Amino acid sequence: MSRIAYVNGRYVPHADASVHIEDRGYQFADGVYEVVAVTGGRLVDELPHLDRLDRSLRELRIAAPMSRAALRTVLREVVRRNRVANGIVYLQVTRGAAPRDHAFPKSGLFPALVVTARSQAPKRSQQDDGVAVITVPDIRWKRCDIKSVSLLPNVLAKQTAVEAGAYEAWQIAADGCVTEGSATNAWIVSGDRALVTRPADESTLDGITRRTVIDIAARNGYRLEERGFTLEEAKRAAECFLTSTTSWVMPVTSIDGARIGDGAPGPLSRALLSHYADYVASLA
Ligand code: PDD
Repeated sequence: MSRIAYVNGRYVPHADASVHIEDRGYQFADGVYEVVAVTGGRLVDELPHLDRLDRSLRELRIAAPMSRAALRTVLREVVRRNRVANGIVYLQVTRGAAPRDHAFPKSGLFPALVVTARSQAPKRSQQDDGVAVITVPDIRWKRCDIKSVSLLPNVLAKQTAVEAGAYEAWQIAADGCVTEGSATNAWIVSGDRALVTRPADESTLDGITRRTVIDIAARNGYRLEERGFTLEEAKRAAECFLTSTTSWVMPVTSIDGARIGDGAPGPLSRALLSHYADYVASLA
């Protein structure tokens, strides 16, 4: 089956899908994106993702490419045309195409919208066994709360992880605290069994999965502390895990080669993963 993409008003074969060479997303990374999980053909946490998209667009003063209702129709149509039952739908909005100039063009600019979808799921073996994380300095800008397509530091961080045989790179701020992964939020379980994750400030993305896990924690009586934690604290933690749309809740069993706990996914990470999987299944 051939894949279909949505590009600026048209559904086109994926292989032929293209944008203008002077699209500002291409030239300046002047755009934002969202990745929404699909389960049983349905979008997981669609509205929070669209709220976060609106916020990213507002913060960068990029116009919405279409109404929310129209965008929801396009997302569903791309999922349907690609026959994605379980996977992801990706959407990207850039400021549009214009003669190259750093400042925003004064007129004639239309935001560009691209939507793609594909089948994928977190790997069961990684959920069962846990994954390795390495660390890199956080060299990003000071507005990581905006889901910008400007991801070069994240790309380099993830590449460092892959070359080290690890699943993810946790980024370390100048104060020694873990900010987040290249494409995931970071969590630890403290010695007294509290779930700890960094507050959603401008240094990290306010992950939608992070928020869902916070809700799950509240409903199930787990203690939550939204505070920074250092790499040293993470290495000594009872458990570590990470969250994202594509990773769900993923147990972390080593950091920079140092074993976390007994080196196997801990009970709280496993319980949260199981609650999250139930939540996703309930939407299908
Ligand atoms: N990444 N932090 C960063 C830097 C991210 O890029 C992401 C998402 C997250 C987790 O957010 P959420 O739970 O809303 O997926 C945290 C997506 C999946 C990506 O870039 O592919």
